[in-house]
Amino acid sequence: MREDIEIVPSLLSADFAILAEEIKKVEEAGCKRLHLDVMDGNFVPNITMGPVIIESIRRRTKLLLDAHLMVQEPERYLDDFKRAGVNSIIIHQEACCNFLKTVQQIKKLDTVAGIALRPGTPVKSIKDVIQEMELILIMTVEPGFGGQPYMAGIEKKIIEVRNLMKEKGLEIPIEVDGGINTETAPLVVKAGATRLVAGHAIFTGDVVENVEKLRHSVESI
Ligand code: DX5
Ligand code: ZN
Repeated sequence: MREDIEIVPSLLSADFAILAEEIKKVEEAGCKRLHLDVMDGNFVPNITMGPVIIESIRRRTKLLLDAHLMVQEPERYLDDFKRAGVNSIIIHQEACCNFLKTVQQIKKLDTVAGIALRPGTPVKSIKDVIQEMELILIMTVEPGFGGQPYMAGIEKKIIEVRNLMKEKGLEIPIEVDGGINTETAPLVVKAGATRLVAGHAIFTGDVVENVEKLRHSVESI
């Protein structure tokens, strides 16, 4: 087993009427963290969950909680998400009024600060801020909805981020998000991603089995 590869279930594809059961399955599958997609209907067209739901999730599990904020001006809500019990906050640079200030605020809350890059956001746009980041999330679909197909060829971007890190002497975990399944997981792992977010591929059918299949698909990479 590749101990360095982490499978991170995205709750967006779970059945929200039985969230507690779905989360229990994620724990049974041996995952360490949950990916929570927060969408505001503004930065992206869809609306999903907010701090109220996350607070209830926090009461049910000890899993690490990563909030992926697809929200305009996320700086307005950082305290709320911290209070709800998240461990990491992942933001999009173009959504912030002052990105670096927002990153500092996240860190001050004793929360891991991550940056998410949409497919159209070039790697050069993070050149001057990457050294402040504790996680790089590369979107492999256009943010907004679960269950979309992986964008072919986006591995190049993972390699570009790795090269930028090498250039700067940094080692930051690279996470991918969108369209990850047993076919696309080997591609992103080969390119250098170590954290794989997956929603549809995990919550369609048996969660424990699906996580196992995903792990197996990257075992020999
Ligand atoms: C998309 C979200 C993803 C999504 C991934 O905007 O950021 O986290 O839930 O879901 P799948 O794996 O179904 O593409
Ligand atoms: Zn996400």
